[in-house]
This record gives sequence, C-alpha cells and structure tokens, in this order.
Amino acid sequence: MQKLSKIAVLTSGGDAPGMNPCIRAVVRTALYNGLQVMGVRQGYQGLIDNNMYEMNNRSVSNILNLGGTILKTARCLPFRTDEGMEIAYKNLKAKGIDGLVVIGGDGTFTGALRFSKKYPDIKVIGVPGTIDNDLYGSTYTLGFDTATNTVIEAIDKIRDTADAHDRLFFIEVMGRDSGAIALRAGISCGAEAILLPEKETAIEELIVSLKAGQYNKKSSSIVIVAEGDKHGGVYDIAKAVEKEVKNYDIKVTILGHLQRGGSPSSFDRILGSRLGYAAVNALLAGKNQQMVGLQANHIVLTDLEEALNQHEFKLEEDLMQMMEILSI
Ligand code: F6P
Repeated sequence: MQKLSKIAVLTSGGDAPGMNPCIRAVVRTALYNGLQVMGVRQGYQGLIDNNMYEMNNRSVSNILNLGGTILKTARCLPFRTDEGMEIAYKNLKAKGIDGLVVIGGDGTFTGALRFSKKYPDIKVIGVPGTIDNDLYGSTYTLGFDTATNTVIEAIDKIRDTADAHDRLFFIEVMGRDSGAIALRAGISCGAEAILLPEKETAIEELIVSLKAGQYNKKSSSIVIVAEGDKHGGVYDIAKAVEKEVKNYDIKVTILGHLQRGGSPSSFDRILGSRLGYAAVNALLAGKNQQMVGLQANHIVLTDLEEALNQHEFKLEEDLMQMMEILSI
C-alpha cells in the first residue's frame, strides 16, 4: 500500500454546526500521525482556484464552539464538469496531496465519488455534515442536533405568543427532501401536526384535526411544515386551512437560515470530533470512497456509492404515530 503523506480537508454545500469540531479533529489527528494537512477554502471551488493553506495545530485553536465553517463553503457548479475536476486534480497533485476528507451532504458526496472514480490515486473519505439528517449510513449527521435545538427554542417562544392570543401558527422549518427536523421538533414542542416531504399532505385530515383541537378547547395550535412538503409552500397551506377553520387567527413564520447557524451542541461537537478522527484513520488504513458514520454509537464505514444510492430518508412511522397520539 502506498504510504499517505499529505491530505486536504474541505467543507462543501450547506454549512452545519459541528463542521468546525470536525475540521479540528481532522487536522490534529493527521498531524499526530505525521501527515501534512492543507485546508481548502470554499469547498470544491477552492480546489479549482488553488485556494489552500497549510494548517497546523494552532490553525484550529478555539473553534470547537464556532458555528459555520472556518474553511468556508460553497455550492460549486464548475466542479460538476470534467474540466473543473481536471484543474482540481492537477492542483492537488502539484501540492503532493494524496488524501482528501470532504465534509458535507449528498451533493458533496456525489462530487467526491465522481472525482475519485476519475482520479483513484487520490483517496477520498466523506463525513456526513448536513442539518437535514438524510444520509444513509449514519443515524445522525453533523449539525442536525444543533439545528433541531435551535428550532425547538424558536417554536417554544412562538407557542408563548400563540397561546396568549389563541392563535394557530404554521411554522416552516428546513429540509428540502427531509422531514427529520420537522419530526423531532414536532415531538419536542408538542406540535398539533407536522407536514413532511416524505408523506402526502392530506389537507382535509389536517382541517379535521385542527377543528377537533378547537372543539377540545385547545387555545393554540402549531403546525410544522418542512420546506420540501409536496403540497406547496407554507403560505398556500395556511390559506387552504384558513378557508375552513373559522375563529382562529392564523399566522405564518418561516424560520429560514437561522437554523443553520449557532454554536454546536455537545452532541455535534463530539460527533464532529469522532467523525473527523475516524476519517483520517480510515485514510491511514488505506480506505477509499467511503463515508464515516455513526450507528448504534459505533463508528462505521459505508461505501459512498451505497450512501448515495440509499439516500432516500425513511420516515420513522412509529415516531410519527406517537406524535399524533401525544398531541391530542
Ligand atoms: O442542505 C441543507 C439545507 O439546509 C436544506 O434543508 C435547504 O433546503 C438548503 O440547505 C438551503 O440552502 P441554501 O439556501 O444555502 O442553498
């Protein structure tokens, strides 16, 4: 097996709290094992622009508590082309880099896998970093716990004012293809209903349950809508309900990008540290085209190909059913 000497680390796609603890772990594990480490700025764009710098132990001091990513991130269209990939490859080779850790979501892994198939002499390991918690091979992705806690804090505040005014709130949370945040926040905040991309929204059923809530003397109601819900935007849903549910003052709140920021939770700091440490150890063990993940509190490796093919988030029906019963 060819010995690894120099690796690069990048963050790509939507940022997620926990990326910084992960970068710190990658850098320090690599240095501990005698490897050199380059930090790539702005994801794949930095590979194309040759925007990299050598990192040392002090480059990652005091970043465990920081949201965002010190390496910056981007969604890079040129990296999807053969030309862009070739430039990136040449830049990496010119620097003597033979291993790459990519931290991001499914878009990031799609790019990593294509690149690695084209240029197999650079070994690639993926770390699941997205607030959406929608990657096969890891029960949790970096940032999901922090984002969910951020959502819970916001919804608790909305509940105070909703209750004071006897109002019905529709609250949109992130999750383009994933209802993971919506479901966890729904259970944690006692939402009256949640609408998810994984489940066809039955507006009629929603109307019936909201009317039942009024009949049962609920003073306020919260409906959480994941942004990817197939029925359309949160405003359309609120309008459809407004026509049928009378005597309820209806308001809409979109939580938006605030869900992506903030200091990572204890869970995400530890997860980021474990995954970053595991990613470098995987490279040292000669692994390639794999993702490090957490399953039953153990670090496991999954082929990037499999992680992407099985990408579809599976709705946890049992949790959904429990939420519905507990919110009566
Ligand atoms: O992938 C994470 C995510 O937060 C999605 O839930 C959301 O749709 C998307 O990023 C929005 O990201 P941006 O506005 O940065 O493109």
